[in-house]
Amino acid sequence: MEVREFFDAAYGATERYWWRKQRRYSADPADHPASLITQVVLRHVRGLPPGRALDLGSGEGTDAIRMALLGWEVDAVEISDVGAKKIERFAYEAGARVTVHRTDALAFDSAGGYDLVVCNGLLHYVAAKEQLIARIQEMTAPGGCHAVSSWSTFTPVPPGHQVVPTFPDDEDGAITHAYRDWDKLLHYYERNRLEVAHQDMETHAHSHIKMVALKPAQPSRGARRPAT
Ligand SMILES: C[S@@+](CC[C@H](N)C(=O)[O-])C[C@H]1O[C@@H](n2cnc3c(N)ncnc32)[C@H](O)[C@@H]1O
Repeated sequence: MEVREFFDAAYGATERYWWRKQRRYSADPADHPASLITQVVLRHVRGLPPGRALDLGSGEGTDAIRMALLGWEVDAVEISDVGAKKIERFAYEAGARVTVHRTDALAFDSAGGYDLVVCNGLLHYVAAKEQLIARIQEMTAPGGCHAVSSWSTFTPVPPGHQVVPTFPDDEDGAITHAYRDWDKLLHYYERNRLEVAHQDMETHAHSHIKMVALKPAQPSRGARRPAT
């Protein structure tokens, strides 16, 4: 089964698949005790003027809508038709403006200049993660922030998820390597956390790579100069 079909079915079967708590769009970090990444991002953006945000693998759009309600200009990229339509509807209902792109993240093109890129739960569905991370790093303004959460290989992929191709990353794998020169606000490996989001599967656990990192304002010393 393709990942798009999997999430079309999941999102069509219930009104809210992810983020079922009432205060999902709250900008108060205390309202997100289960998501350290969300807390760190909200504390980071609190001191910034509204900028441009990209939410890749946006699902039902919760992270995108939360940022739009803070005045940010937000692009949401989602491969599932059902998900993309829900992002549009939920944004409308919340009074938020989000530009929804129903496409594969690898095919998404943009002039870039993002101040925040959220990549929450996408990368374990992407084989070419080095390629995707390099693209979104290029699309990011100096000093811009990336929030990344992906399954790690520490826990084997549970049977309920083996119906689609998945590509968890080693803890010291492509993701950690791609951000080695970025300034970390948060970087940890969460192991065997019970998954509570799926009402439609056997109880299971995942391990994660979690990171919030800032793009260096200057190219790193190891970076090569472009040819003249
Ligand atoms: C685990 S869900 C996370 C949803 C959302 N980020 C959240 O945290 O609520 C992963 C999402 O990535 C989407 N996705 C998977 N592969 C994708 C791809 N290649 N391009 C765009 N979206 C993709 C899925 O359809 C799904 O909605």
